Amino acid sequence: MYTLVADHPLIAHKLTTLRDVRTPTPEFRRLADELVTLLAYEATRHLPVEPVVIETPVATAEGVKLAGPPAMIVPVLRAGIGMLDGMTRLLPAAAVGFMGLARDEDTLVATAYAVRLPADLIGREAIVLDPMLATGGTLEVVIRTLIDRGAAGVTAICLLAAPEGLARIAATFPEEEVRVPIRVVTAAIDARLNERGYIVPGLGDAGDRLFGAV
Ligand code: URA
Repeated sequence: MYTLVADHPLIAHKLTTLRDVRTPTPEFRRLADELVTLLAYEATRHLPVEPVVIETPVATAEGVKLAGPPAMIVPVLRAGIGMLDGMTRLLPAAAVGFMGLARDEDTLVATAYAVRLPADLIGREAIVLDPMLATGGTLEVVIRTLIDRGAAGVTAICLLAAPEGLARIAATFPEEEVRVPIRVVTAAIDARLNERGYIVPGLGDAGDRLFGAV
């Protein structure tokens, strides 16, 4: 597994305000949206391109365009929905599938209650949107589903990650056994999880802060 912590001053600045308990929902949404776009820049670095020749108003020029089938963006319900606009802004041609997972707050085990994905993802890059990589239980189920359907690679964009979650994904999908590259792009790796499975210091419940408590 490849992990990238995008430690850019703009990202660090926005993340600090995002974490702040005094940041209200409208600002939280806007900051999450902006952070995803900045992380998406790094998360799409590996996408294949092919050469093209175009005409500028002045001369013929060689350039590139994205190659291969469009990437599949997979926001994980509910909080991943708050990351979708920030992602499609950068990749407007991408398809969007959905996975809904809920974790049992006692056992912390994640189970899928909705999967809206094409049966066949062969040759397609998948980009998973899930703001908090905590225990890694949710991301494990999502990655396994995408690999089983033939994804060429899986890149998870997470606003924050915990060492426990990263270790779980690395152990579950060892490079020597998994035939597709697995990547995690995040704005920061925090210290640890607390006894309720929340990231410390984290930012609280990302879904509640984006959409309000339900
Ligand atoms: N999900 C969240 O929303 N926050 C955490 O800290 C962990 C999981």
